[in-house]
Amino acid sequence: MIFRQFKPEDLDSIVLLEKRAFPVGPYTRSMLKKVFSARDSFNFVAEESGIIRGYTVALPLDEKSADVESIAVDPDLHRGGLGTLLLGKIENAMRERSFQYSVLEVRDKNDEAINFYKKHGYVAITHMPTYYTEIFRGSRGAYRMVKKL
Ligand SMILES: CC(C)(COP(=O)(O)OP(=O)(O)OC[C@H]1O[C@@H](n2cnc3c(N)ncnc32)[C@H](O)[C@@H]1OP(=O)(O)O)[C@@H](O)C(=O)NCCC(=O)NCCS
Repeated sequence: MIFRQFKPEDLDSIVLLEKRAFPVGPYTRSMLKKVFSARDSFNFVAEESGIIRGYTVALPLDEKSADVESIAVDPDLHRGGLGTLLLGKIENAMRERSFQYSVLEVRDKNDEAINFYKKHGYVAITHMPTYYTEIFRGSRGAYRMVKKL
């Protein structure tokens, strides 16, 4: 597995991964393109034999905080430690940019991801009952979670 920065030619592979990783409400191609190419955006992709197996992308929120806009791992590799590696890399990139807090939003019924974030030191600080458009496991809600870096 190679970890590197996003390149525009990764977009097709990331769109495929996104659809497999998020059964409800995946980012569209144009949303992914926008977030990966936004000014100040930073990211890591995990590539194996030319295929993107995981990615994470973050954006600054303010002087102190950056937001993990998205993180996804190929479902075939879930529970294999790749998500932990990607999260660690994006958090280190935040520290290098002098951010003090990592912030993210997660669907309130995405128990797998919530467990993942809790294991890595994130704490839910806000519940937003109508954050998403699409219903996932009966809810449109999200938690905002924060970690002191
Ligand atoms: C969330 C996600 C990125 C985690 O990636 P991963 O590579 O599977 O995670 P890891 O193997 O590094 O897991 C680390 C720990 O997180 C927790 N965890 C991960 N997946 C879990 C699951 N399905 N159920 C419960 N706990 C889970 C466990 O504590 C796990 O440690 P353990 O395996 O030793 O028990 C991955 O499940 C994913 O891509 N999900 C779909 C997309 C998504 O929901 N992204 C988050 C959007 S906010």
